[in-house]
Amino acid sequence: MFITIDGGDGCGKTTQQHRLCDWLQSLGREVVLCRDPGGTELGDKVRDIVLNGGVEICNVAEMLLFMASRTQLVDEVIRPSIEAGKDVISDRFLISNIVYQGYAGGMSIDAIEFIGNIATFGIMPDVGIILDVPYDVSVKRIRNRAKDRMECKGEEYHKQVRNGFLEYAKKNPFYVVIDAVVPFEEVELEIRKTIRKFLV
Ligand code: TYD
Repeated sequence: MFITIDGGDGCGKTTQQHRLCDWLQSLGREVVLCRDPGGTELGDKVRDIVLNGGVEICNVAEMLLFMASRTQLVDEVIRPSIEAGKDVISDRFLISNIVYQGYAGGMSIDAIEFIGNIATFGIMPDVGIILDVPYDVSVKRIRNRAKDRMECKGEEYHKQVRNGFLEYAKKNPFYVVIDAVVPFEEVELEIRKTIRKFLV
């Protein structure tokens, strides 16, 4: 299975990725974890540039940088792992590009989907979990950590990110929105319940 976990900043996706991995492994499955952007030598360099590079990056370049990192990740990690019969859980994937650079950044969703299809070689998640947290909760959760370039984009941008996730999920049935304001054990159970339906 190919599972992705996305959501606004501070939604707890990285914790949930590891909990889900433990659970799938306890069922005897082989699981590979990755993160987007990142997860390869090229991807980690691109991640560093796009999040903390301190250079001017226009909207289209931003979209393409995330895309470049992703295509390398699919080529090096995701596709070979799926072909080897392993489960893959990615911390973010294409929907983050669509939501951050499209819904919030103002780029055409159709254009991002088109380039996304090339970048992912058409490989899309079997299930895309979206952990939903309102803007105010997100701000409180990340209050004490150093902010990267995306996290500095302000209230309006991040409210559009949240709405973008909800809107896009409505149109694409393999995305499942889970309320992530509740304690993380409850979120974990909800994720398991969702994934169980897809297990083969
Ligand atoms: P993430 O790895 O989730 O950072 P953190 O764990 O520090 O929250 O994602 C990095 C940031 O990049 C996050 O703010 C979302 C953003 N992003 C995009 O804008 N477009 C994309 O295509 C992806 C994958 C992430």
